[in-house]
Amino acid sequence: ADVKKIAVIAGDGIGPEVVEEAIKVMKKTEELYGLSFEFEHGLFGGIAIDEKGTPLPDETLEICKRSDAVLLGAVGGPKWDSNPKELRPETGLLGIRKALGLFSNIRPATIFDCLKEASTLKPEVLEGTDLIVVRELTGGIYFGEKFRREGEHGEEAVDTCVYNAVEVERIVRQAFEIAQKRRKKLASVDKANVLETSRLWREVVNRIAPEYPDVELEHVLVDNCAMQLLRRPSSFDVIVTENMFGDILSDEAAMLTGSIGMLSSASLGEGAFGLYEPVHGSAPDIAGQGIANPIATILSVALMYRLTFGYEEAAASIEEAVKAVLDAGHRTGDIAVDKSQAIGTTAMGDLIVAAMK
Ligand code: NAD
Ligand code: IPM
Ligand code: MN
Repeated sequence: ADVKKIAVIAGDGIGPEVVEEAIKVMKKTEELYGLSFEFEHGLFGGIAIDEKGTPLPDETLEICKRSDAVLLGAVGGPKWDSNPKELRPETGLLGIRKALGLFSNIRPATIFDCLKEASTLKPEVLEGTDLIVVRELTGGIYFGEKFRREGEHGEEAVDTCVYNAVEVERIVRQAFEIAQKRRKKLASVDKANVLETSRLWREVVNRIAPEYPDVELEHVLVDNCAMQLLRRPSSFDVIVTENMFGDILSDEAAMLTGSIGMLSSASLGEGAFGLYEPVHGSAPDIAGQGIANPIATILSVALMYRLTFGYEEAAASIEEAVKAVLDAGHRTGDIAVDKSQAIGTTAMGDLIVAAMK
């Protein structure tokens, strides 16, 4: 078979725990669908700081560059939280996204019907909710100049937010194209009433919108969007927004699905290559206990199959297995209504593997 190279960078906290389950699922698809993967592991994040003195060792970046796709767990933890910027796990995460040119971060929030009771929102509000946040990933305030300086009242900190029209246009075009393949609604989220970068964002969106006449476009201010996501989540189809707004809104959208442990993501550039990771972090509060929900990472594999490899059948098989296991009532603690019935990470992974057809 055509062997695909997968870079595996599990990272910290629950990262390695959830990645292990995702790899089990990938191995099962090798059996079921005749797929073939070669896994190459790389050190990344806090563990890489401890072992190599940097969160993103050159060798790890090389592993990613010679792979067809990257499977990432999560990074970070209290151990590294007071480190200087260059020695922070999160700096490695931003670095890998930038180095691989992954400007487009796709975060679907799909509701499994049987999980409606796991959400903090009323089931009738969630009815029909199926949205995707398309987050710009390599620009904005995350990547602008940052520095400290002496000001009138002592030390000051500065983060700058910069966007150029090219960066806006390429992500917005991707979002329009995704919307065209779905319910044809696009919400462009900004803060154009205050921010200059948002005014440029909105101008670019309006300039290219006529090229997608079949897509219904709305501009929504980010504060209003945060509210509307809870008020009328089912009215959203595709949301496109800048880096930091997308970070915040996608965690909010996660709660529509019942848990941040359910939200998968794909980070893409112009080609098929992609990095796939759960939206959640390293969850230091539950790390090492074997109780993390592996579904976000497992669903990220389904995104990898679909978006990078075109393995549609295998992708659907993973999603259907997840649905079947949830329908049968199996829950990790984060999505369990009765926490005493919750199962662990490995048990959830095993059930999903067993349910795959
Ligand atoms: P988090 O997403 O790690 O955790 C938030 C809450 O959700 C915690 O209570 C956690 O237990 C729970 N949770 C997260 N994933 C879960 C899962 N799979 N199953 C069950 N419960 C889950 O966010 P945080 O606590 O703000 O950040 C912790 C660390 O992770 C920080 O160092 C942060 O920088 C880092 N982080 C990394 C990434 C990434 O690697 N992509 C993303 C977000 C945060
Ligand atoms: C995410 C995370 C990262 C981000 C952090 C850890 C740098 O929150 O992937 O959503 O803000 O992009
Ligand atoms: Mn985040």
